[in-house]
Order: sequence, then structure tokens, then C-alpha cells
Amino acid sequence: TKQKITVIPGDGIGPSIIESAVQILKKLECGFDFDYADAGLTAYEKTGELLPQQTLDLIEQNKVALKGPLTTPVGEGFTSINVTLRKKFALYANLRPVLSFKGTRARYENIDIITIRENTQGMYSGLGQTLSDDGATAEAKSQITREGAEAIVTFAYELAKKEGRKKVTAVHKANILKSTSGLFLKVAREVGARYPDIESTEMIVDNTCMQLVMNPEQFDVIVTTNLFGDIISDLCAGLVGGLGMAPGANIGTDCAIFEAVHGSAPDIAGKNLANPTSVILASVQMLEYLGMKDKADRLRNAVRDVIETGDRTTRDLGGSAGTTEFTQAVLERL
Ligand code: NAI
Ligand code: MG
Repeated sequence: TKQKITVIPGDGIGPSIIESAVQILKKLECGFDFDYADAGLTAYEKTGELLPQQTLDLIEQNKVALKGPLTTPVGEGFTSINVTLRKKFALYANLRPVLSFKGTRARYENIDIITIRENTQGMYSGLGQTLSDDGATAEAKSQITREGAEAIVTFAYELAKKEGRKKVTAVHKANILKSTSGLFLKVAREVGARYPDIESTEMIVDNTCMQLVMNPEQFDVIVTTNLFGDIISDLCAGLVGGLGMAPGANIGTDCAIFEAVHGSAPDIAGKNLANPTSVILASVQMLEYLGMKDKADRLRNAVRDVIETGDRTTRDLGGSAGTTEFTQAVLERL
């Protein structure tokens, strides 16, 4: 039977970059069926709901989704759709690889870092968010469980083993956040000890940011809690040419959603300026997840070739091609 992919074009630049990825996947002859579904502002305008039940049902049925960025309206009563999806489908691992391609405006040429971010707990667990009646005191609860920490750190080491990576760095703030980050670090040390062939290191998050900017080549796999992973992965995207270069995979035991790390980029939406590399590389992650390694490599190499030869690159990389011209260049190489 054909693998069905739930495709959520999303908001802003979403539909154009998702269209680019779908065209490319069709050209690769992966034999997928694509089921389209709405979420975000686009869904809200059509149905009055940010995340319609029909969309949730399709994600549940097909188990694999490719998703464009979603705009969560700012204001009361709107919980982040992304956070909801991650919690609902127990997508506990967020994989955010960054890889240097020559020909971007990045400052480094040898970056190959994968940030593995715990995706459902910590500061984003959504627990105990309160604002006092007088509006003077706000609170939120951060929760880390041993089970959650063990799952994410084990995921990181298993991935390192599978991909032949050498080092896993646990990033934390256990010196200040003694209970939450403390538990995470304790568990990270325990799990690391079970993988003697992989180098285990640990680093405090603020120093990590400085080290990433000064000497990023020292990093291989980073594993960390939700908030730190969110921030660090954007920093890592900046090391390889910006958010247009950064894909992400949300993976659970049963279901996976592949997306760009960036948002809906309202400043460039509808102008044919967006770099679709982020979702194209998310498609590469999806192909790897589905065990289609050859096609994944072919696609990554095609994108690399377009960017490194400077054939037709988008404005964020210093080129002058639009989303469609860049996509065409990738299609030609396939
Ligand atoms: P953003 O990531 O949309 O944009 C930040 C900057 O990066 C902008 O200058 C934008 O033009 C640029 N950029 C982003 N993607 C690009 C691409 N593919 N090619 C070229 N340039 C690109 O962040 P912002 O503006 O803070 O958020 C906009 C909206 O996106 C908000 O409503 C936010 O809630 C939502 N958002 C959604 C996410 C998701 O669905 N995964 C993640 C982050 C934000
Ligand atoms: Mg983010």
C-alpha cells in the first residue's frame, strides 16, 4: 500500500514552500499519496478553528505529516498550535540538524550539528500558567520527568550510534535550575554511561551559546530541554545561513511531523522570496524516517549542488532567484 502523507500548507510563506517540497517529492517518485489539510490562520478563517478535528484525524490516520509554518494569533485564548500538536501526538523528540553548504552567507563551512530538543516538557509544558488578579505577578511551571529525560537522551544516543556520530553534549543549567535541569543532567549522565563508544560531554547553556558562535566545529549532537533547544537551534540555523536552511522533525513513538524551524515570515509572504530549503530538507528527514535513504541522499545532494554552484539561490543566501526558480533548479538536478 502507498504511504500517505498529510500535507499542511500552513500560513504566510507556508503554501509556496510546501508546494515546492511536494513537487520535488513527486519528481523523486516516492510513491506517496498526499492528503491536504488546513491548520493555523488559514483554517481559522475557513472553519473558525485553528486546528480542525479533520486535520487531527488525518495526522492520526497517516502517521506522517509535512507541515508548513502556522501563525498563532497573539492574544488570550490562543494556545500555540505547534505546542498542541506536539503534546497531542506525543512527539517527544525534535530533531534539528544544521549542515553547512558553501555558497551561503554563513560564517562557517564545516558545520554538521544536530540539536535534539525535548519537545513536550520543561518551560513549554503549559502547566500552572497564572497571572495574579492585579496583573503584577506571572507564574508558569516547568516540569521534567525522569521518563521524559531518559526518552530524549536515549533517542540522542541511539541516533548518534545509527549515524556514526562521535559526541553527545548535554546542554543544561543545573547550577541554577537545580531541580529541573538537575534531573535532566543526572539522567543524561546515566544514559551516557551506557554508550561507552560515544563521547559524552556536558555544557551550561549560556556558555554553549558563546561556544557555538566562537567554535561551532566542536559540536556534534546536542541534547537539551525544550526552551534551551528552541533557542539553540535557531542559533545553529544562523551558523549555516539562516532560518531558510533549517529543517525540523517532531518524532513520537507512533507518529511524526516534519516542518521548517522558522515561522510564517509575514514580511516576505506572497512575494516569491522564501527559501524553500528548510522544508525540502525536512522532506529529506521524512525520507530517512521512512527508510528511503537513497532518495534522501539524492535530494540532499541536489539541493547542495544548486546552492554550492550558486545556480539559482534565494535572496537570504545572497542570490536573486525566487522560490519557484530555486525549486526548478532542484527539479532539474533530479
Ligand atoms: P519567522 O521565522 O517567520 O521569520 C523570522 C525572519 O526570518 C523573517 O525576517 C523572515 O523573513 C525570515 N525567514 C523565515 N523563513 C524564511 C525562509 N524560508 N526564507 C527566507 N527568509 C525566511 O519568525 P517571526 O516573524 O517571529 O514569526 C512569524 C509567525 O510565525 C508568528 O505568527 C509565529 O507565531 C509563527 N511561528 C510559527 C512556527 C511554526 O509553525 N513552526 C515557528 C515560529 C514562528
Ligand atoms: Mg522556535
